[in-house]
Amino acid sequence: MGSVTKNKWLKYLFLKKYAPLAPYLPETQRMSPQAFWTLLRKYRHVIVKPVWGSRGRGVIQVSHLDSDKYAIHYENVKTVIRGRKNIYRYIRNKIGSADYMVQRRITRPTINECPFDMRVIVQRKRKSAGWVVTGKVVKVAGKGYIVSNNTRSKGQLLRFESGIQRSSIKHLSVSALESKINRVSILSAKRLMAFFPEHRIYGLDIATDQQGHVSIIEANLYPAMSHFLKLKDSAMYQRILSYKRG
Ligand SMILES: Nc1ncnc2c1ncn2[C@@H]1O[C@H](COP(=O)(O)OP(=O)(O)OP(=O)(O)O)[C@@H](O)[C@H]1O
Ligand SMILES: [Mg+2]
Repeated sequence: MGSVTKNKWLKYLFLKKYAPLAPYLPETQRMSPQAFWTLLRKYRHVIVKPVWGSRGRGVIQVSHLDSDKYAIHYENVKTVIRGRKNIYRYIRNKIGSADYMVQRRITRPTINECPFDMRVIVQRKRKSAGWVVTGKVVKVAGKGYIVSNNTRSKGQLLRFESGIQRSSIKHLSVSALESKINRVSILSAKRLMAFFPEHRIYGLDIATDQQGHVSIIEANLYPAMSHFLKLKDSAMYQRILSYKRG
């Protein structure tokens, strides 16, 4: 049995049940034929992913194309399948008996046609309840992938401001978007404090849509430092380390 810290479903529920954060959590259910068809009908695109996943492993996008046609996007391969029965059987075959959930797909903005989301680091010092955003990086999915995991998709990492300015949401105010992301990230950390009282760092996976609406994809308790090493922003990296020590 894994620990609650890595259970995406429990962390989702805990955040979703907190009213001020609810609008920022994309509708998610435990995987079942009923949940799958309900969300696919409602949103036309869903993400099917493991409750215990990491590094973008096992993440499947399913889209309803028209009447009897569905598209599956898994790793860097897109497959078109006909028939309701066939599509569910196909997914079942991929996921086996693993614990899965189904989630509304956020239609993310793009950079050179590749969707992107963000990793936001929120930290507090040992004897303080004051949460601070110490790091932020734009993660661009590699060509042909839906997951933005840098290693898996051979994607790109960019600083927040230059990422937004090169993207399909360059018309939005960078500072307004950044404040909104910071506010939602800090609120998530505060909420999670009730569940993990000793914990001092979170790495939030945040996505936006083309209108700048913010969604929380996941709250990681053990965020990787590799993004910030690769970004070559030593001031940001040093700030994260100093909060870790502090
Ligand atoms: N609902 C969604 N809408 C759009 N994209 C999504 C959605 N859920 C996941 N993704 C994409 O897939 C990636 C992996 O999802 P998630 O974070 O849930 O899995 P993970 O295995 O923890 O991956 P990682 O370790 O890279 O964070 C996300 O970072 C994002 O790029
Ligand atoms: Mg994640």
